Amino acid sequence: MTDNEKKSLCEKAIQAAQNSYSPYSNFKVGAALLCDDGSVVLGCNIENASYSATTCAERVAIQTAISNNKKSFKAMAIAGGKDTVGENICSPCGVCRQVLAEFCNPETFLILLAKDGGYEEYTLSQLLPYGFTKDNL
Ligand code: THU
Repeated sequence: MTDNEKKSLCEKAIQAAQNSYSPYSNFKVGAALLCDDGSVVLGCNIENASYSATTCAERVAIQTAISNNKKSFKAMAIAGGKDTVGENICSPCGVCRQVLAEFCNPETFLILLAKDGGYEEYTLSQLLPYGFTKDNL
């Protein structure tokens, strides 16, 4: 991926956060998942009055992708914030890292954390070292 492609994926994550349903935390999160076929699947966080039924943006994106028969993935951009989205990084929670590890190669899958018109870049294995996967079973 070029720097411009990465920035464009971050921009899509910022846009996706605008659909966030987050009346309890007022914290909007957007995720843009780049699939191997070049398509981009978006997700936003969807909260619930029960709190525990809340789903993070990252899982909404990957579950939507899997539901639409997408099978392999290159990268995910994530953006979040309360008043401004994308100004400070929003790092994926542990559950989302684990779900990504189910479907993405931890050594090559890129996680781009939108920040100030740019991004911080990590591989999934950097964010989830020594993760538990199907290889352990
Ligand atoms: N959230 C996400 O969508 N992704 C993350 O990785 C961290 C947290 C959401 C869940 C909740 O709606 C709000 O941010 C505050 O925790």
